[in-house]
Amino acid sequence: MATPWESLANPQLLDLAPYQPGKPVEELERELGIRGAIKLASNENPLPPSPRVLDVLQAALHTLNRYPDGSGYYLRQALAKRHGVPPEAVILGNGSNELLDLLARAFVRPGEEVVFPHPSFVVYPLIVQAVGGTRVAVPLWDHRLDLSAMARAITPRTKLVFLANPNNPTGTIVTAGEVEAFMAEVPERVIVVFDEAYVDFAQGPDFPDSLGHLRQGRKVVVLRTFSKIASLAGLRVGYGLADPDCVGLLHRLRQPFNVNSLAQVAALATLEDEEHARRAVELVIREREALCRAFAALGLHPVPSRANFVLVEVPDAPAVYERLLRQGIIVRPMAAFGLGGALRITVGTPEENARLLAGLRQALGREA
Ligand SMILES: Cc1ncc(COP(=O)(O)O)c(C=O)c1O
Repeated sequence: MATPWESLANPQLLDLAPYQPGKPVEELERELGIRGAIKLASNENPLPPSPRVLDVLQAALHTLNRYPDGSGYYLRQALAKRHGVPPEAVILGNGSNELLDLLARAFVRPGEEVVFPHPSFVVYPLIVQAVGGTRVAVPLWDHRLDLSAMARAITPRTKLVFLANPNNPTGTIVTAGEVEAFMAEVPERVIVVFDEAYVDFAQGPDFPDSLGHLRQGRKVVVLRTFSKIASLAGLRVGYGLADPDCVGLLHRLRQPFNVNSLAQVAALATLEDEEHARRAVELVIREREALCRAFAALGLHPVPSRANFVLVEVPDAPAVYERLLRQGIIVRPMAAFGLGGALRITVGTPEENARLLAGLRQALGREA
């Protein structure tokens, strides 16, 4: 039976489950009455923001009585310069999440199809359903996006394709050659969204140049974020690169001040601090590989990752998740992603990772 409010709601909302974020540290500490819990559940950067960011934030605090620059002028200029595109090709979002939502709202009409991988970022099916689109989830193959199957899933009703690279929750990438072959199969009219939230941890000669496809005039949107590499997840700022025509349409939909003034100055400061980004990449790659070796030593088979997290199957994953929680360690259970037997573990600081490994040994009953 629909509640009185449900009977008033848009019908596509009724079987939509709200996004379940990783459990907040404060919530676990409250529940267990403990301090010092750690969270390796939301793929955040283990490093705090760079000192430069803290300085510009301090300086910007006294202007909080003013609305932000609604056009994000300076940040868009800097991003345009960095990527070699005109500023009109850059749009800022309240996290790249907002841009995913704007894309679905701008382009997907009820009944039109959106192709995306599964398991992948759980927001894709939510936003497609919210606009009445048809979800076409294409299973991964060996934990990797199956681009041939995704190309085959495109029909005359397909409007948009979401392609997470690296993919969340597996951390795997699709290579330049694979994307080249995929783009050759995709009809020109279909919009391909390269969601590259973790790109900085994955760089290498095999990583696709998605912007190259945009430059070739394909209907491509590239999404990036300051949440991961730049340690600014709490400020909510991401951006999209696309044809100015596409960006213009998204501007019509976005809220006037979607990116707050602190986020704008902080993001700008991170673009001028390559040292922070370099340190983060080095730390994540070193710690990620160490974690994977330690998982293997426990007889586990982590999925080889190019991101700042690792997916690993464990015996009785829900129980292991709970046992870790009781030790004040939050990781991400994967049932919502359709992988109930696995955990996704964000790469933390060396101290956090050591604690995770000790906790995991205990949870698996493998203490020496
Ligand atoms: C694949 C992917 N895309 C997009 C996002 C959204 O990031 P944000 O909204 O913080 O920019 C995430 C966040 O975890 C993600 O995993």
